[in-house]
Amino acid sequence: MNLNDRPRRLRRTPVIRDLVFESTLHMDHLIQPYFVTDGTEVHTEIPGLSGIFRESVDSLVKTIADDIKLSIKKVMLFGVTDRKDPVAASAMDDDNPVLRATQLLKKEFGDELFVSTDVCLCAYTDSGHCGIMVKDEVDNDSSVELLTNMAVALAESGSDCVAPSDMMDGRIGAIRKALESKQLTKTIIMAYTAKYASSYYGPFREAANSAPGKGDRKGYQMDFRNRSEALRELALDESEGADIVMVKPALAYLDIISDFRRHTKLPVAAYNVSGEYASVKFLAQAGFADEKQMVLENLTAITRAGAKIIITYHLRDILKNEWIGA
Ligand code: PBG
Ligand code: ZN
Repeated sequence: MNLNDRPRRLRRTPVIRDLVFESTLHMDHLIQPYFVTDGTEVHTEIPGLSGIFRESVDSLVKTIADDIKLSIKKVMLFGVTDRKDPVAASAMDDDNPVLRATQLLKKEFGDELFVSTDVCLCAYTDSGHCGIMVKDEVDNDSSVELLTNMAVALAESGSDCVAPSDMMDGRIGAIRKALESKQLTKTIIMAYTAKYASSYYGPFREAANSAPGKGDRKGYQMDFRNRSEALRELALDESEGADIVMVKPALAYLDIISDFRRHTKLPVAAYNVSGEYASVKFLAQAGFADEKQMVLENLTAITRAGAKIIITYHLRDILKNEWIGA
């Protein structure tokens, strides 16, 4: 053959491959999620999410102290409680485990630890929906009011970043306005901008005890048949005051991540969700693939698609096992 171009030349040896590789996965951009619950001395592994625990505040502070030694510096907290009612009162009362944990963590670790917190009602409503039910429907505007109060409470507790995952219309603007009016000007809003209604949330709903009792989330989360709608959501969240825009889930939505990368100057985040994590764990535990290789391939692909920040349950394993240079 008389070929003008032979791409294999640049793949011949590890040194050459390292010379030309394009996407680097860096630990600085990864966030580890945690589930915080009521009570004391609770530390229970979540079925379907091996290595991930539901913990009371006392236990969580110890876990995070250990994780800081592994050099985890960015965390995201989700609340879990049995105290549920129609108006999600436990989302922002004094006993809320996320509010208590955030106060303690910020007191203990200050700016050494970046604490982001979930803003959503589904862990606290008796319906299990992300908003408030009015006549059998999730009502947008009254839900936004409660979500805004919740975000302000989280910001006041010291949360560095609030992350609304509810997908109500107008909530980013309402939260930004409320934060400004209270001089909470440092609080970062990481918006779940394109959050799809996905089966890959299965293990999370088990973990957070937040599955909707009736119906599904398709009336507020996005339809996975849609692509341009994500850009519409992006334009809204940008104009309403988001600092970081997120795509969720990650792996089945790399096209959306790539679209975001090309359409915004804001940092793009992706949520490598519970079902994606569990799939890797199950395959590895069954002996059909290598966990380290799957994790690095998945997270690098999310990076290559255009996400800067990745929220991933794999972070602790990566650091513990030294899968990449910390
Ligand atoms: C709740 C919420 C969900 C996730 C993050 N926040 C579940 C859902 O919308 O049903 C999913 C995270 C994961 O699967 O890891 N608003
Ligand atoms: Zn929710």
